[in-house]
Amino acid sequence: MPGATGHPRGRSVTAVTAIAAVGGFLFGYDTGVISGALLFIRHDFDLTAFEEGAIVSSLLLGAMLGALAGGSWADRFGRKRTILAAAALFIAGIVLAIVAESEGVLILARFVIGLGVGVASDTVPLYIGEMAPPEARGRLVSMNQLMITVGIVAAYLVDYVFSAGENWRAMFAVGLIPAGILGLGMLLLPDTPRWLLSRGREREARAIAEQLGQADVLEIGDARGQEVKRDWRALAARNLRRVLVIGIGLAVLQQVTGINTVIYYAPTILQEVGLASDNAILSAVPIGVVNIVMTVVSIAVIDRVGRRPLVLGSLAGMVVSIAGLGFVFQLDAGGAVAVICLVAYVASFAIGMGPIFWLLIAEIYPQRVRGEAMSVATASNWLANFAVAQTFPLLLSGIGSAATFWIYAGLGVLAIWFALALVPETKDRTLEELEAELVGPEPSAA
Ligand code: BGC
Repeated sequence: MPGATGHPRGRSVTAVTAIAAVGGFLFGYDTGVISGALLFIRHDFDLTAFEEGAIVSSLLLGAMLGALAGGSWADRFGRKRTILAAAALFIAGIVLAIVAESEGVLILARFVIGLGVGVASDTVPLYIGEMAPPEARGRLVSMNQLMITVGIVAAYLVDYVFSAGENWRAMFAVGLIPAGILGLGMLLLPDTPRWLLSRGREREARAIAEQLGQADVLEIGDARGQEVKRDWRALAARNLRRVLVIGIGLAVLQQVTGINTVIYYAPTILQEVGLASDNAILSAVPIGVVNIVMTVVSIAVIDRVGRRPLVLGSLAGMVVSIAGLGFVFQLDAGGAVAVICLVAYVASFAIGMGPIFWLLIAEIYPQRVRGEAMSVATASNWLANFAVAQTFPLLLSGIGSAATFWIYAGLGVLAIWFALALVPETKDRTLEELEAELVGPEPSAA
Protein backbone atom coordinates (compact mmCIF):
# COMPACT_ATOMS: atom_id res chain seq x y z
CA MET A 1 0.00 0.00 0.00
CA PRO A 2 1.60 3.31 -0.99
CA GLY A 3 2.93 5.37 1.84
CA ALA A 4 1.80 2.96 4.49
CA THR A 5 4.99 2.80 6.51
CA GLY A 6 7.64 5.28 7.46
CA HIS A 7 6.58 7.62 4.69
CA PRO A 8 6.40 11.32 5.61
CA ARG A 9 2.80 11.28 4.43
CA GLY A 10 1.84 8.94 7.21
CA ARG A 11 3.12 11.35 9.79
CA SER A 12 1.70 14.54 8.39
CA VAL A 13 -1.75 13.20 7.66
CA THR A 14 -1.86 11.80 11.17
CA ALA A 15 -0.92 15.20 12.59
CA VAL A 16 -3.50 16.96 10.45
CA THR A 17 -6.16 14.50 11.60
CA ALA A 18 -5.18 14.71 15.25
CA ILE A 19 -5.49 18.49 15.32
CA ALA A 20 -8.70 18.77 13.30
CA ALA A 21 -10.38 16.02 15.33
CA VAL A 22 -10.15 18.23 18.43
CA GLY A 23 -13.24 19.79 16.81
CA GLY A 24 -14.95 16.43 17.40
CA PHE A 25 -13.87 16.48 21.04
CA LEU A 26 -15.54 19.86 21.45
CA PHE A 27 -18.70 18.52 19.79
CA GLY A 28 -18.83 15.71 22.34
CA TYR A 29 -17.74 17.83 25.30
CA ASP A 30 -20.17 20.66 24.71
CA THR A 31 -23.13 18.38 24.09
CA GLY A 32 -22.24 16.23 27.12
CA VAL A 33 -21.37 18.90 29.68
CA ILE A 34 -24.87 20.22 30.19
CA SER A 35 -26.37 17.13 31.83
CA GLY A 36 -24.20 17.62 34.91
CA ALA A 37 -23.99 21.40 34.78
CA LEU A 38 -27.74 21.78 34.75
CA LEU A 39 -28.05 20.31 38.23
CA PHE A 40 -26.22 23.35 39.61
CA ILE A 41 -27.35 26.00 37.17
CA ARG A 42 -30.77 25.29 38.69
CA HIS A 43 -29.45 26.43 42.05
CA ASP A 44 -28.08 29.73 40.77
CA PHE A 45 -30.92 30.83 38.55
CA ASP A 46 -34.58 30.52 39.17
CA LEU A 47 -35.38 28.51 36.05
CA THR A 48 -38.78 27.84 34.60
CA ALA A 49 -39.21 24.51 32.80
CA PHE A 50 -39.13 26.40 29.53
CA GLU A 51 -35.85 28.14 30.37
CA GLU A 52 -34.33 24.87 31.44
CA GLY A 53 -35.29 23.30 28.13
CA ALA A 54 -33.96 26.34 26.30
CA ILE A 55 -30.55 26.10 28.00
CA VAL A 56 -30.28 22.52 26.79
CA SER A 57 -31.74 22.88 23.33
CA SER A 58 -30.37 26.28 22.28
CA LEU A 59 -27.13 24.43 21.58
CA LEU A 60 -28.89 22.07 19.20
CA LEU A 61 -30.56 24.92 17.33
CA GLY A 62 -27.27 26.83 17.17
CA ALA A 63 -25.61 23.69 15.83
CA MET A 64 -28.22 23.40 13.13
CA LEU A 65 -27.62 26.96 11.97
CA GLY A 66 -23.86 26.60 12.35
CA ALA A 67 -23.95 23.48 10.21
CA LEU A 68 -25.89 25.31 7.51
CA ALA A 69 -23.44 28.20 7.48
CA GLY A 70 -20.32 26.07 7.87
CA GLY A 71 -20.60 24.27 4.57
CA SER A 72 -20.93 27.34 2.41
CA TRP A 73 -18.16 29.09 4.36
CA ALA A 74 -16.01 26.03 3.78
CA ASP A 75 -16.64 26.16 0.03
CA ARG A 76 -16.16 29.90 -0.13
CA PHE A 77 -13.43 30.75 2.37
CA GLY A 78 -11.77 27.37 2.68
CA ARG A 79 -11.85 24.45 5.09
CA LYS A 80 -9.07 25.77 7.28
CA ARG A 81 -10.51 29.23 7.86
CA THR A 82 -13.92 27.76 8.59
CA ILE A 83 -12.54 25.48 11.30
CA LEU A 84 -10.73 28.52 12.72
CA ALA A 85 -14.07 30.31 12.80
CA ALA A 86 -15.53 27.35 14.70
CA ALA A 87 -12.75 27.63 17.29
CA ALA A 88 -13.50 31.35 17.68
CA LEU A 89 -17.20 30.62 18.17
CA PHE A 90 -16.42 27.98 20.80
CA ILE A 91 -14.24 30.42 22.71
CA ALA A 92 -16.73 33.29 22.47
CA GLY A 93 -19.64 31.10 23.58
CA ILE A 94 -17.77 29.51 26.47
CA VAL A 95 -16.53 32.89 27.76
CA LEU A 96 -20.09 34.20 27.60
CA ALA A 97 -21.32 31.17 29.58
CA ILE A 98 -18.63 31.68 32.21
CA VAL A 99 -19.63 35.29 32.85
CA ALA A 100 -23.40 34.83 32.38
CA GLU A 101 -25.35 36.52 35.17
CA SER A 102 -28.80 35.69 33.85
CA GLU A 103 -30.52 32.74 32.24
CA GLY A 104 -31.03 34.81 29.08
CA VAL A 105 -27.29 35.28 28.63
CA LEU A 106 -26.68 31.62 29.35
CA ILE A 107 -29.18 30.60 26.68
CA LEU A 108 -27.40 32.92 24.25
CA ALA A 109 -24.03 31.49 25.27
CA ARG A 110 -25.22 27.94 24.63
CA PHE A 111 -26.52 29.06 21.25
CA VAL A 112 -23.11 30.52 20.31
CA ILE A 113 -21.33 27.36 21.47
CA GLY A 114 -23.86 25.49 19.34
CA LEU A 115 -22.87 27.55 16.30
CA GLY A 116 -19.30 26.38 16.88
CA VAL A 117 -20.40 22.76 17.29
CA GLY A 118 -22.42 22.97 14.08
CA VAL A 119 -19.65 24.54 12.02
CA ALA A 120 -17.11 22.02 13.32
CA SER A 121 -19.44 19.07 12.86
CA ASP A 122 -19.53 19.36 9.10
CA THR A 123 -16.17 20.95 8.43
CA VAL A 124 -13.93 18.59 10.39
CA PRO A 125 -14.98 15.40 8.54
CA LEU A 126 -14.86 17.40 5.31
CA TYR A 127 -11.32 18.58 5.97
CA ILE A 128 -9.97 15.20 7.08
CA GLY A 129 -11.76 13.43 4.23
CA GLU A 130 -10.06 15.64 1.66
CA MET A 131 -6.65 15.17 3.28
CA ALA A 132 -6.78 11.39 3.75
CA PRO A 133 -5.45 8.81 1.30
CA PRO A 134 -8.29 6.55 0.09
CA GLU A 135 -7.08 3.40 1.82
CA ALA A 136 -7.09 5.11 5.24
CA ARG A 137 -9.94 7.56 4.79
CA GLY A 138 -12.41 5.52 6.83
CA ARG A 139 -10.29 5.35 9.93
CA LEU A 140 -8.95 8.90 9.64
CA VAL A 141 -12.34 10.57 9.21
CA SER A 142 -13.73 8.38 11.99
CA MET A 143 -11.15 9.82 14.39
CA ASN A 144 -13.60 12.71 14.53
CA GLN A 145 -16.35 10.39 15.84
CA LEU A 146 -13.87 8.82 18.26
CA MET A 147 -13.11 12.26 19.64
CA ILE A 148 -16.84 12.98 19.94
CA THR A 149 -17.21 9.91 22.15
CA VAL A 150 -14.11 10.82 24.19
CA GLY A 151 -15.45 14.37 24.58
CA ILE A 152 -18.74 13.06 25.94
CA VAL A 153 -17.04 10.97 28.63
CA ALA A 154 -14.59 13.78 29.43
CA ALA A 155 -17.58 16.05 30.03
CA TYR A 156 -19.16 13.53 32.44
CA LEU A 157 -15.91 13.27 34.37
CA VAL A 158 -15.28 17.02 34.49
CA ASP A 159 -18.87 17.50 35.64
CA TYR A 160 -18.23 14.99 38.39
CA VAL A 161 -15.00 16.69 39.50
CA PHE A 162 -16.63 20.10 39.79
CA SER A 163 -19.92 18.85 41.20
CA ALA A 164 -18.56 18.91 44.77
CA GLY A 165 -18.11 22.68 44.51
CA GLU A 166 -21.28 23.01 42.41
CA ASN A 167 -19.10 24.95 39.99
CA TRP A 168 -20.94 24.77 36.66
CA ARG A 169 -18.94 27.69 35.27
CA ALA A 170 -15.75 25.68 35.63
CA MET A 171 -17.44 22.79 33.82
CA PHE A 172 -17.92 25.04 30.81
CA ALA A 173 -14.52 26.71 31.21
CA VAL A 174 -12.58 23.48 30.72
CA GLY A 175 -13.79 23.55 27.11
CA LEU A 176 -11.52 26.55 26.51
CA ILE A 177 -8.49 24.25 26.51
CA PRO A 178 -9.49 22.13 23.51
CA ALA A 179 -10.91 25.21 21.78
CA GLY A 180 -7.53 26.94 22.13
CA ILE A 181 -5.71 23.84 20.88
CA LEU A 182 -8.01 23.63 17.88
CA GLY A 183 -7.51 27.30 17.01
CA LEU A 184 -3.74 27.38 17.44
CA GLY A 185 -3.31 23.97 15.80
CA MET A 186 -5.32 24.90 12.72
CA LEU A 187 -3.23 28.05 12.27
CA LEU A 188 -0.28 25.74 11.61
CA LEU A 189 -2.06 23.51 9.08
CA PRO A 190 -2.61 24.14 5.38
CA ASP A 191 -5.95 24.09 3.60
CA THR A 192 -6.78 20.97 1.61
CA PRO A 193 -5.19 20.68 -1.83
CA ARG A 194 -8.59 19.71 -3.23
CA TRP A 195 -10.16 22.96 -2.06
CA LEU A 196 -7.20 25.00 -3.34
CA LEU A 197 -7.50 23.27 -6.72
CA SER A 198 -11.20 24.04 -6.83
CA ARG A 199 -10.27 27.71 -6.41
CA GLY A 200 -7.76 27.53 -9.22
CA ARG A 201 -4.80 27.85 -6.79
CA GLU A 202 -2.96 25.08 -8.48
CA ARG A 203 0.64 25.72 -7.52
CA GLU A 204 -0.12 25.93 -3.82
CA ALA A 205 -2.35 22.87 -4.08
CA ARG A 206 0.33 20.77 -5.73
CA ALA A 207 3.01 21.87 -3.29
CA ILE A 208 0.90 20.81 -0.31
CA ALA A 209 -0.25 17.60 -2.00
CA GLU A 210 3.37 16.73 -2.60
CA GLN A 211 4.33 17.45 0.99
CA LEU A 212 1.51 15.23 2.22
CA GLY A 213 2.24 12.58 -0.41
CA GLN A 214 -1.33 12.84 -1.74
CA ALA A 215 -0.83 10.78 -4.89
CA ASP A 216 -4.56 10.76 -5.65
CA VAL A 217 -4.69 14.56 -5.62
CA LEU A 218 -1.61 14.91 -7.82
CA GLU A 219 -3.44 12.82 -10.41
CA ILE A 220 -6.40 15.20 -10.58
CA GLY A 221 -6.37 17.12 -13.85
CA ASP A 222 -5.96 20.91 -13.90
CA ALA A 223 -8.40 23.67 -14.41
CA ARG A 224 -10.94 22.99 -11.72
CA GLY A 225 -10.88 26.71 -11.01
CA GLN A 226 -13.85 27.49 -13.17
CA GLU A 227 -16.10 25.37 -10.99
CA VAL A 228 -16.08 27.83 -8.14
CA LYS A 229 -19.05 30.03 -8.80
CA ARG A 230 -21.70 27.92 -7.14
CA ASP A 231 -24.37 28.56 -4.62
CA TRP A 232 -27.21 26.70 -2.98
CA ARG A 233 -29.04 26.39 -6.27
CA ALA A 234 -26.30 24.08 -7.51
CA LEU A 235 -27.68 21.50 -5.08
CA ALA A 236 -30.88 21.30 -7.11
CA ALA A 237 -29.06 19.56 -9.97
CA ARG A 238 -30.78 16.34 -10.93
CA ASN A 239 -27.68 14.18 -10.68
CA LEU A 240 -27.23 15.17 -7.03
CA ARG A 241 -30.63 13.94 -5.92
CA ARG A 242 -29.59 10.44 -5.00
CA VAL A 243 -26.59 11.48 -2.91
CA LEU A 244 -28.60 14.20 -1.18
CA VAL A 245 -31.29 11.68 -0.27
CA ILE A 246 -28.63 9.31 1.07
CA GLY A 247 -27.03 12.03 3.23
CA ILE A 248 -30.25 13.50 4.59
CA GLY A 249 -31.79 10.06 5.10
CA LEU A 250 -28.82 8.75 7.05
CA ALA A 251 -28.66 11.98 9.04
CA VAL A 252 -32.24 11.67 10.19
CA LEU A 253 -32.07 7.90 10.72
CA GLN A 254 -28.89 8.23 12.82
CA GLN A 255 -30.93 10.32 15.26
CA VAL A 256 -34.47 8.94 15.15
CA THR A 257 -33.22 5.47 16.03
CA GLY A 258 -32.78 6.95 19.49
CA ILE A 259 -29.06 7.23 20.25
CA ASN A 260 -29.28 10.46 22.18
CA THR A 261 -32.14 9.31 24.36
CA VAL A 262 -29.48 6.98 25.76
CA ILE A 263 -26.52 9.38 25.60
CA TYR A 264 -28.43 12.31 27.14
CA TYR A 265 -30.81 10.42 29.41
CA ALA A 266 -28.91 7.29 30.47
CA PRO A 267 -29.00 8.16 34.19
CA THR A 268 -32.78 8.69 33.98
CA ILE A 269 -33.29 5.37 32.20
CA LEU A 270 -31.09 3.59 34.73
CA GLN A 271 -33.05 5.12 37.57
CA GLU A 272 -36.34 4.00 36.04
CA VAL A 273 -35.25 0.38 36.00
CA GLY A 274 -34.28 0.66 39.62
CA LEU A 275 -30.54 1.11 39.25
CA ALA A 276 -30.40 4.45 40.99
CA SER A 277 -26.76 5.20 41.50
CA ASP A 278 -25.51 7.42 44.31
CA ASN A 279 -24.21 9.74 41.71
CA ALA A 280 -26.37 10.29 38.67
CA ILE A 281 -23.54 12.02 36.83
CA LEU A 282 -21.23 9.01 37.08
CA SER A 283 -23.78 6.37 36.19
CA ALA A 284 -23.51 7.24 32.50
CA VAL A 285 -19.72 6.81 32.37
CA PRO A 286 -19.63 3.04 31.68
CA ILE A 287 -22.03 3.50 28.77
CA GLY A 288 -19.85 6.31 27.43
CA VAL A 289 -16.81 4.06 27.71
CA VAL A 290 -18.53 1.32 25.69
CA ASN A 291 -19.26 3.99 23.09
CA ILE A 292 -15.54 4.85 22.91
CA VAL A 293 -14.30 1.26 22.84
CA MET A 294 -16.63 0.14 20.06
CA THR A 295 -15.75 3.21 18.00
CA VAL A 296 -12.12 2.10 18.25
CA VAL A 297 -13.16 -1.36 17.03
CA SER A 298 -14.99 0.23 14.12
CA ILE A 299 -11.93 2.30 13.22
CA ALA A 300 -9.77 -0.82 13.27
CA VAL A 301 -11.87 -2.62 10.67
CA ILE A 302 -13.65 0.05 8.65
CA ASP A 303 -11.18 0.30 5.78
CA ARG A 304 -11.08 -3.49 5.38
CA VAL A 305 -14.65 -4.57 6.06
CA GLY A 306 -16.18 -1.58 4.31
CA ARG A 307 -19.05 0.74 5.18
CA ARG A 308 -22.10 -1.25 4.13
CA PRO A 309 -21.59 -4.37 6.25
CA LEU A 310 -20.85 -2.25 9.31
CA VAL A 311 -23.91 -0.04 8.84
CA LEU A 312 -26.20 -3.03 8.36
CA GLY A 313 -24.76 -5.01 11.26
CA SER A 314 -24.92 -1.91 13.43
CA LEU A 315 -28.57 -1.27 12.67
CA ALA A 316 -29.53 -4.90 13.22
CA GLY A 317 -27.90 -4.81 16.67
CA MET A 318 -29.56 -1.50 17.52
CA VAL A 319 -33.02 -2.74 16.55
CA VAL A 320 -32.76 -5.95 18.57
CA SER A 321 -31.35 -4.27 21.67
CA ILE A 322 -33.66 -1.27 21.81
CA ALA A 323 -36.70 -3.47 21.13
CA GLY A 324 -35.37 -5.60 24.00
CA LEU A 325 -35.21 -2.53 26.20
CA GLY A 326 -38.87 -1.97 25.42
CA PHE A 327 -39.63 -5.51 26.61
CA VAL A 328 -37.67 -4.92 29.80
CA PHE A 329 -40.04 -2.09 30.64
CA GLN A 330 -43.11 -3.96 29.43
CA LEU A 331 -42.36 -7.07 31.49
CA ASP A 332 -40.66 -5.29 34.35
CA ALA A 333 -37.68 -7.54 33.72
CA GLY A 334 -35.32 -5.69 35.99
CA GLY A 335 -32.12 -3.73 35.97
CA ALA A 336 -29.55 -6.26 34.80
CA VAL A 337 -31.31 -7.03 31.53
CA ALA A 338 -31.87 -3.32 30.95
CA VAL A 339 -28.18 -2.65 31.33
CA ILE A 340 -27.34 -5.45 28.89
CA CYS A 341 -29.75 -3.94 26.36
CA LEU A 342 -28.39 -0.42 26.82
CA VAL A 343 -24.80 -1.55 26.46
CA ALA A 344 -25.59 -3.69 23.40
CA TYR A 345 -27.47 -0.80 21.85
CA VAL A 346 -24.68 1.74 22.32
CA ALA A 347 -22.06 -0.79 21.18
CA SER A 348 -24.06 -1.46 18.03
CA PHE A 349 -24.41 2.24 17.30
CA ALA A 350 -20.73 2.91 17.86
CA ILE A 351 -19.51 0.28 15.45
CA GLY A 352 -21.52 1.59 12.52
CA MET A 353 -24.16 4.30 12.51
CA GLY A 354 -22.08 6.59 14.74
CA PRO A 355 -18.92 6.95 12.69
CA ILE A 356 -20.21 5.94 9.28
CA PHE A 357 -22.87 8.61 8.86
CA TRP A 358 -20.17 11.29 9.26
CA LEU A 359 -17.78 9.37 7.04
CA LEU A 360 -20.21 8.80 4.18
CA ILE A 361 -21.28 12.43 3.97
CA ALA A 362 -17.61 13.35 3.63
CA GLU A 363 -17.27 10.85 0.77
CA ILE A 364 -20.33 10.85 -1.44
CA TYR A 365 -20.58 14.47 -2.58
CA PRO A 366 -18.75 15.94 -5.56
CA GLN A 367 -16.02 18.48 -5.01
CA ARG A 368 -17.91 21.46 -6.39
CA VAL A 369 -20.69 21.29 -3.79
CA ARG A 370 -19.13 19.16 -1.07
CA GLY A 371 -19.28 21.77 1.70
CA GLU A 372 -22.82 22.86 0.97
CA ALA A 373 -24.17 19.35 0.51
CA MET A 374 -22.57 18.27 3.80
CA SER A 375 -24.23 21.26 5.44
CA VAL A 376 -27.64 20.08 4.40
CA ALA A 377 -27.03 16.58 5.75
CA THR A 378 -25.45 17.86 8.95
CA ALA A 379 -28.19 20.41 9.63
CA SER A 380 -30.78 17.63 9.12
CA ASN A 381 -28.91 15.60 11.72
CA TRP A 382 -29.11 18.44 14.26
CA LEU A 383 -32.75 19.11 13.49
CA ALA A 384 -33.60 15.44 14.01
CA ASN A 385 -31.50 15.43 17.19
CA PHE A 386 -33.50 18.43 18.45
CA ALA A 387 -36.81 16.78 17.56
CA VAL A 388 -35.92 13.55 19.41
CA ALA A 389 -34.63 15.41 22.48
CA GLN A 390 -37.84 17.45 22.64
CA THR A 391 -40.23 14.56 22.13
CA PHE A 392 -38.55 11.84 24.22
CA PRO A 393 -39.79 13.10 27.62
CA LEU A 394 -43.24 13.69 26.14
CA LEU A 395 -43.36 10.18 24.69
CA LEU A 396 -42.23 8.63 27.97
CA SER A 397 -45.03 10.30 29.89
CA GLY A 398 -47.57 9.98 27.06
CA ILE A 399 -47.25 6.40 25.76
CA GLY A 400 -44.78 4.92 28.25
CA SER A 401 -41.23 3.63 28.02
CA ALA A 402 -41.90 0.35 26.22
CA ALA A 403 -43.85 1.88 23.33
CA THR A 404 -41.33 4.72 23.07
CA PHE A 405 -38.40 2.36 22.59
CA TRP A 406 -40.39 0.24 20.14
CA ILE A 407 -40.90 3.33 18.00
CA TYR A 408 -37.12 3.72 17.79
CA ALA A 409 -36.82 0.03 16.94
CA GLY A 410 -39.40 0.43 14.18
CA LEU A 411 -37.49 3.37 12.75
CA GLY A 412 -34.40 1.17 12.91
CA VAL A 413 -36.11 -1.38 10.67
CA LEU A 414 -36.86 1.44 8.25
CA ALA A 415 -33.18 2.41 8.41
CA ILE A 416 -32.15 -1.14 7.47
CA TRP A 417 -34.37 -1.00 4.41
CA PHE A 418 -32.93 2.43 3.53
CA ALA A 419 -29.34 1.27 3.92
CA LEU A 420 -29.94 -1.90 1.88
CA ALA A 421 -31.47 0.12 -0.91
CA LEU A 422 -29.25 3.17 -1.01
CA VAL A 423 -26.00 3.16 0.96
CA PRO A 424 -23.03 2.74 -1.39
CA GLU A 425 -19.73 1.03 -0.59
CA THR A 426 -17.03 3.69 -0.67
CA LYS A 427 -13.93 1.96 0.65
CA ASP A 428 -10.67 2.09 -1.31
CA ARG A 429 -12.00 4.56 -3.89
CA THR A 430 -10.63 8.07 -4.34
CA LEU A 431 -13.09 10.92 -3.86
CA GLU A 432 -12.82 11.57 -7.60
CA GLU A 433 -13.72 7.96 -8.46
CA LEU A 434 -16.70 8.14 -6.12
CA GLU A 435 -17.78 11.37 -7.74
CA ALA A 436 -17.68 9.74 -11.16
CA GLU A 437 -19.59 6.68 -9.94
CA LEU A 438 -22.26 8.32 -7.83
CA VAL A 439 -22.86 11.62 -9.55
CA GLY A 440 -21.41 11.50 -13.04
CA PRO A 441 -19.21 13.95 -14.85
CA GLU A 442 -21.23 17.10 -15.47
CA PRO A 443 -23.85 18.79 -13.34
CA SER A 444 -27.08 19.11 -15.27
CA ALA A 445 -29.53 21.83 -14.37
CA ALA A 446 -32.72 20.64 -12.73
C1 BGC B 1 -24.05 11.64 16.82
C2 BGC B 1 -24.39 12.35 18.11
C3 BGC B 1 -24.22 11.40 19.26
C4 BGC B 1 -22.84 10.79 19.26
C5 BGC B 1 -22.72 9.74 20.31
C6 BGC B 1 -22.65 11.12 16.91
O1 BGC B 1 -22.32 10.45 15.73
O2 BGC B 1 -24.17 12.52 15.72
O3 BGC B 1 -25.71 12.84 18.02
O4 BGC B 1 -24.43 12.07 20.49
O5 BGC B 1 -22.54 10.23 17.99
O6 BGC B 1 -21.48 9.11 20.26
